[in-house]
Amino acid sequence: MENLKLGLICMTSISSQMIIEEAKKYFSQVDLIDIRKVEIMMNNKQTKVLYDGKELENYDCLYLKSSHRYAELMYGLTEIFKEDTFIPLQAQAHLLAHNKFLTHLTYAQNKILKMPDTYYAAKISETKNFLQTLNYPIILKFPSGTHGKGVIFSESSKSARSMVDALDVFKQPLIVQDYINIQSDIRVIVTGNKIAGSMRRIAAGGEIRANAHMGGNAEPYVVTSQIKEMCLEAAKRIGAKICAVDIIESDYGPLILEVNTSPGLQKITEVTKKNIAGEIAQYLFEETSKIKQSKDKLQSRDLMGQAGIEEIGERDFQIDLVVRNGKIVLPEFVTKMSSFRDEEEVTLKITDNKIEILKD
Ligand SMILES: Nc1ncnc2c1ncn2[C@@H]1O[C@H](COP(=O)(O)OP(=O)(O)O)[C@@H](O)[C@H]1O
Ligand SMILES: [Mg+2]
Repeated sequence: MENLKLGLICMTSISSQMIIEEAKKYFSQVDLIDIRKVEIMMNNKQTKVLYDGKELENYDCLYLKSSHRYAELMYGLTEIFKEDTFIPLQAQAHLLAHNKFLTHLTYAQNKILKMPDTYYAAKISETKNFLQTLNYPIILKFPSGTHGKGVIFSESSKSARSMVDALDVFKQPLIVQDYINIQSDIRVIVTGNKIAGSMRRIAAGGEIRANAHMGGNAEPYVVTSQIKEMCLEAAKRIGAKICAVDIIESDYGPLILEVNTSPGLQKITEVTKKNIAGEIAQYLFEETSKIKQSKDKLQSRDLMGQAGIEEIGERDFQIDLVVRNGKIVLPEFVTKMSSFRDEEEVTLKITDNKIEILKD
């Protein structure tokens, strides 16, 4: 196993702990970092990140997943560490995904990423005027609600207008959205270019929200090629290599509802019987290794120059061969430039004046 360090910056939920356990199979060090104990100190000379009062150590991989309350902090931490660390979510992903209005705005006019018709205004008075122009029922939503808690169903303009007045006490803008009459949604977990797992969630009787927190049930679901393409595109547009995408099926085809950069893993693991946390851990490890290897390659090129090793072609080098106790000893850069690992099974092809090492 390579010596790679993972830091998981999160709120220490059960899902995060599931990832930590799986990551221990791959990374040599895995740290659970409680985002609530993270501080950033900066001035014109330097930026320092503290964890529990001490400077945060360096990691090869940082995976940040937390609630919308810490979206700005996650944005900041990603910007600070992105040069030297593999981070599966771009800084902006935390702001975009934690706000359904910004998510929809990112996808607006995208040919693949269709959404229910969505409206958003700064002022409640504008929203109230708009409500009179709609066909009912409709959905009202808080942009950063989760677990179905910020989603409200309204059957008439009259009820919608009074709801909007009542909701004005929260002093938050509201999303108004077309209601899609199907009491289920599809939850898909994306890791890189793969779908790690997917399920169909069915709302409990009398409920329109399919979230498990709202008593919904779920069953395994195999994504169609269209939904797969949508989910990969949605993740890419938002800048998240790991995320969950919620999709609702309408008469006009599948529509995106939201992207979740900190999805719960218990339900989907139970329903799909797949090791989703394991898939995430493995993805983090593979990407981190790839980046580490290419960095090592660059570094070894520098070292080669310093050691006087001459490069005489794209991958040809002239060295003085070392044979010690009858064994050929190759310089370290040869190992680093290759992707060979210790104890890997290889085939040696040997002729009079040529040795080739091939991966099996
Ligand atoms: N426009 C809509 N039409 C019909 N049902 C909806 C709509 N928007 C949301 N829902 C239902 O409410 C649930 C929660 O909505 P979602 O936008 O995913 O917010 P949350 O972040 O709270 O999960 C969805 O899974 C779906 O069942
Ligand atoms: Mg949702």
